Amino acid sequence: MIDLRSDTVTVPCAGMRRAMTEAVVGDDVIDVDPTVQQLQERIADLLGKEAAIFMPSGTMTNQVAVRLHCQRGDEFLCEYGCHIFTYEQAAFASMSGVAPHPLVGSRGNLTLEQLVAARRPDNEHAARTTLVCLEHTHNRAGGKLLDWAEVLKIEAWCRAHSMRLHLDGARLFNAAVAAGKSLAELAAPFDTVSVCFSKGLGAPVGSALVGRREYIAQARRHRKAFGGGMRQSGFLAAAALYALEHNFERLAEDHANASWLAEAIQNIPGLQIVDAESNRLVDTNIVLFSVEPRLGTSAEFAAKLEAAGVRCFPFSPTSIRFVTHLHITRDDVAWVAKILSQLSS
Ligand SMILES: Cc1ncc(COP(=O)(O)O)c(C=O)c1O
Repeated sequence: MIDLRSDTVTVPCAGMRRAMTEAVVGDDVIDVDPTVQQLQERIADLLGKEAAIFMPSGTMTNQVAVRLHCQRGDEFLCEYGCHIFTYEQAAFASMSGVAPHPLVGSRGNLTLEQLVAARRPDNEHAARTTLVCLEHTHNRAGGKLLDWAEVLKIEAWCRAHSMRLHLDGARLFNAAVAAGKSLAELAAPFDTVSVCFSKGLGAPVGSALVGRREYIAQARRHRKAFGGGMRQSGFLAAAALYALEHNFERLAEDHANASWLAEAIQNIPGLQIVDAESNRLVDTNIVLFSVEPRLGTSAEFAAKLEAAGVRCFPFSPTSIRFVTHLHITRDDVAWVAKILSQLSS
């Protein structure tokens, strides 16, 4: 079975397992676990920020960031399809009393103009708009890169109006490899950045929230209240350190495989890459494609793929998502392309 459902389906290799079992650990709730501390220092350094805190999931790092930057009754601006708004059960509302103000973007991008128009006026009738959240790469948009010139404009505007800027960088490592920019450059405009070690990097568990020392100290309090205080979590941090060392630069292979597969899909009658740009079909490791009605709904088509040995998620009633990752080879994607041709003929 070739599993293209997500880049989260990977399992640790022998080297990662060894690193985990050999980790030096301590109680990270009472004081510090040395391996967790090492990971936190490493990721803060890579992102050019003062400090970082390890958490079990990207959902928790995002939600702790919202709690950190907003007061009850505040609202944050975000793109409609972003993970924080779409896939985190409105936890910003249930856990922090914060309202979302989602705006429909283009290929995962919001423009400064949209944000300026959406920000509430400063009077007692309106919620206070105190935070903007962006996502890089943008998952629901198909692993898209952000328009960097626009991000810099948004940063300047947020600073001018004392608004905070948070990045959901669950796939920031993919963004860095695809954009040819350093993690620090991509993190620089943001007050806080959430990164995941359990997506393309292939660690089994773990995310980090990265930012100024004072924000991370507050985040540590919120993490405890959210149930994210973990004790000998150095076993997990060791996997994340291994992933950073061995699986970061190789993300280029996942992107090349996704791009190869997208080219093949674009040449299969009945299938079409969603939101392709004129000069490229995909930006990173996510391939979104639509299925013509004559081939059935996306769920029916996905069921046929599953029967043929390819596992994937229908992404909308008419589209399917493939995600390449470290268990997927060029031979695998070539085989998937063959199956797609057979099912579409
Ligand atoms: C863009 C993005 N942000 C956050 C998350 C949440 O990560 P987790 O599953 O670790 O909570 C995901 C998960 O796929 C994601 O794609």
